[in-house]
Amino acid sequence: MGLCPTVYRFTRKTKCLLLLALCLCVLAWVAAFISGTVKPFELVPTQVQKWERMGSEVEAGLNTEPGGLYTPTELLQTKEKEEEELPKAPCPKKSPLLRGPLPLSFEPALTLGRVEGENGAVSGGQYQPADCVAQQSVAVLIPHRNREKHLLYLLHHLHPFLQRQQLHYAIYIIHQAGEETFNRAKLLNIGYLEALKDYSWDCFIFHDVDLVPENDHNLYTCDQQPKHLVVGRNSTGYKLRYKGYFGGVTALSRQQFLKVNGFPNSYWGWGGEDDDLRKRVELQRMSVVRPPAAIGRYTMVFHQRDNGNEVNKDRMRLLSKTSDMWKKDGLNSCTYQTLSVERPPLYINVTVNIGKPPSTH
Ligand SMILES: *[C@@H]1O[C@H](CO)[C@@H](O)[C@H](O)[C@H]1NC(C)=O
Ligand SMILES: *[C@@H]1O[C@H](CO)[C@@H](O)[C@H](O)[C@H]1NC(C)=O
Repeated sequence: MGLCPTVYRFTRKTKCLLLLALCLCVLAWVAAFISGTVKPFELVPTQVQKWERMGSEVEAGLNTEPGGLYTPTELLQTKEKEEEELPKAPCPKKSPLLRGPLPLSFEPALTLGRVEGENGAVSGGQYQPADCVAQQSVAVLIPHRNREKHLLYLLHHLHPFLQRQQLHYAIYIIHQAGEETFNRAKLLNIGYLEALKDYSWDCFIFHDVDLVPENDHNLYTCDQQPKHLVVGRNSTGYKLRYKGYFGGVTALSRQQFLKVNGFPNSYWGWGGEDDDLRKRVELQRMSVVRPPAAIGRYTMVFHQRDNGNEVNKDRMRLLSKTSDMWKKDGLNSCTYQTLSVERPPLYINVTVNIGKPPSTH
């Protein structure tokens, strides 16, 4: 009996104290939460927080035991390395190295050795500016067979031309093996597919071997729309061959070329495939842009039409079907066999077996 009131009185006093303590405790926690030092449900540090803590201990030189994330000396070396490889600035929108129209030379005595000597910064067919990051990475694709002299003239002019434009570029020769009828368009599709195995190029220049650009303001870069670069050539009095002409040298971005499913593979022999590409571009509601006539000038190195590249008599029939065929005949149906990929200093030489025209011809 006598114990009960005592316990009651004692408990009541303690209860008050306990309540007070609890209140203070809650208040302190709420204050800490508001000030941001405590997150309500993350009182146990997460793995990330542990790493962060370890990192700051390392920086403070605390965690020197082996097995720590870094030792301070390693950290110092990493910092030095980062300073050495300071990110390069982008190259200017307009290269300061451009020189405008330049006289071209076509010396019969020119040798590959000499052109290599003049282009020491090119290796494995590729080049990039030493002191800035190029605005675009560009793959130049040149279909080729039996035109070594023209190729040499083109390489002689094109390498310095592209370097003055401060581009990251590579030159691909797509060489059709065998003696079957030539198929420029299919070789260009192959060039696109093969070049993308090396690098994710922004822009593709589809380039005939016998056309040499005269003015380096004619930029080998891609625009918002597909670009046709040969406004005129010496062999046509520097006039567009015909309205809608889209041959010789064109520039399409990786996405633009994919969107039109590339070139048709079914044009064997000379002509028509460039008009088909223009129709594909128009079917995709894109348009063709060109540089001003004074800039889009080319010299066509003289030659006779090669054996194995006779006029394609079927081209008008094929052209009338482009709107049905473009989805089926193109990059997505381009079958070939790669025979070799060689990388001499000035170009990448992709040699391919592309089969032959259907026997109905
Ligand atoms: C264009 O210029 C090249 C190089 O000088 C020359 O070989 C060719 O005959 C010229 N073509 C015409 C039609 O003048
Ligand atoms: C490309 O490689 C093939 C196969 O080795 C060779 O026959 C051809 O001459 C080469 N072409 C060039 C331009 O180097």
